[in-house]
Amino acid sequence: MSKGSDPTEGVLLRQLIVGDLIDIVGIQESLGGESEVEYWRKKLDVYTADPELCLGAEYAGKLIGYILGHIKGGEFGVADETGWIELIGVDPEWQRRGVGKILVEALFKVFLNRSCKKVYILCSWKDNEILGFLRELGFVRGDLIHLEKSLPRVGASGL
Ligand SMILES: CC(C)(COP(=O)(O)OP(=O)(O)OC[C@H]1O[C@@H](n2cnc3c(N)ncnc32)[C@H](O)[C@@H]1OP(=O)(O)O)[C@@H](O)C(=O)NCCC(=O)NCCS
Repeated sequence: MSKGSDPTEGVLLRQLIVGDLIDIVGIQESLGGESEVEYWRKKLDVYTADPELCLGAEYAGKLIGYILGHIKGGEFGVADETGWIELIGVDPEWQRRGVGKILVEALFKVFLNRSCKKVYILCSWKDNEILGFLRELGFVRGDLIHLEKSLPRVGASGL
């Protein structure tokens, strides 16, 4: 990487393709996250159907980060054209150099061009790392909350 003042110098943004599958799985493995090939194959199949919303960052031909977004709304009080960040990941060796930020900001531009007025992302209230990142990008806590109820184990209630 360049030792210049811009730590993202030389980082290129491009649309993801299904052929990025193995590189994404590799990033996920290094992040300790979901790295099941079939899981990611399905995700990429679904999300790359709207290729503007699936972006990758590469340096010297190597994928170092990705973001998958989509646009949906109209239910649960969510405005019709709402941009959603579904998944984002940056290779640990490249974190804290601005790659996540350029991926998110590039997606913001696409959302804006597609008439979105808001962007949503779901994350754990306990995950200070991702919260720190999202706050830096201007995200604040919204009005929606998620409610949950654990279901009994199959068989435990005679189901
Ligand atoms: C969250 C993640 C995408 C951030 O990517 P990144 O490239 O490291 O982020 P950036 O370098 O663009 O960070 C921009 C700013 O966000 C804030 N930030 C980023 N990571 C942070 C952290 N771990 N804790 C607190 N603030 C953080 C900082 O203000 C940072 O600027 P600075 O480094 O100049 O202080 C990356 O850490 C990652 O892939 N995490 C694991 C996967 C994950 O949690 N994904 C989200 C759920 S889908």
